[in-house]
Amino acid sequence: MTDTGAGAQIIDGKEIAKLVRAEWKLRVDRLLQAGVKPGLAVIIVGDNPASAIYVKNKVKACSDIGIYSEVHSFPKDANQQDVLDCIRALNDNPHIHGILVQLPLPPQFENNRVITSIAVEKDVDGFHLYNVGALVTGNTIFAPCTPFGVMVMLDRHAIPIEGRHAVVVGRSNIVGKPMALMLLERGATVTICTSKTRDLAQFTRNADILVVATGKSRMINAGMVKSGAVVIDVGINRLSDGTLCGDVDFDSVKKVAGFITPVPGGVGPMTITMLLCNTILAAERALAGAKIQ
Ligand code: GUN
Repeated sequence: MTDTGAGAQIIDGKEIAKLVRAEWKLRVDRLLQAGVKPGLAVIIVGDNPASAIYVKNKVKACSDIGIYSEVHSFPKDANQQDVLDCIRALNDNPHIHGILVQLPLPPQFENNRVITSIAVEKDVDGFHLYNVGALVTGNTIFAPCTPFGVMVMLDRHAIPIEGRHAVVVGRSNIVGKPMALMLLERGATVTICTSKTRDLAQFTRNADILVVATGKSRMINAGMVKSGAVVIDVGINRLSDGTLCGDVDFDSVKKVAGFITPVPGGVGPMTITMLLCNTILAAERALAGAKIQ
């Protein structure tokens, strides 16, 4: 925890990710002792440069913690059936505990058809419609990695959630919607906004916890934040000069917020960490013979 003196405490995602990975490494060691090496398969279709970097980082993170990983790459004009066949084989492969299809898929693909072909107990992204339903009803099987990482950051700083007003700006299936549900499950009063919400500041100014995931550079400024609020910036945007910035104007907002996540070094390092955790969890469940019904 870093106190900047005037204003917010910085929530250091890199530091928390390091601690969480060290704790989960012990669980990998226990699995190895039991003769199980956790395994993750990543499927990537096309040549999206950002996706290629994410996949490379996931493979490196797996290797660092002791998870076996394999990447299945398909060209951008790939046939959906070939990808479905690959997923079916991975579903049946006992050495693979987690399967992840890197998004976005090329336009000829039907996202839900592909994602729902992943075995529920191997869907470490938590994007399968069954897992989404489980999350909605408070029976989470795999929490989607980015909002899961945000919850861990809040908990590591002992930030109270129950009874607080949480405002989520963004409604994506990957971040905004599951984030809102996870906060709701923990007893927050949740408001979901989008970057298009009329008079957005009227909502954000009432937030005790403000999570922003819009992909719009520095759209949240100090005037939109309540004094002492917890501000979580999920955005990662590249400016024309090549530098990275979040959806929150960090320099101004840190003067009024109570806690704030930086970009880079905030939520980003937590996402891959939680993917590792979900893969380890999947391997532990497989070892225990758990069947999800
Ligand atoms: N693309 C952007 N974020 C994600 C993610 O969390 N998982 C997958 N599979 N694809 C993504």
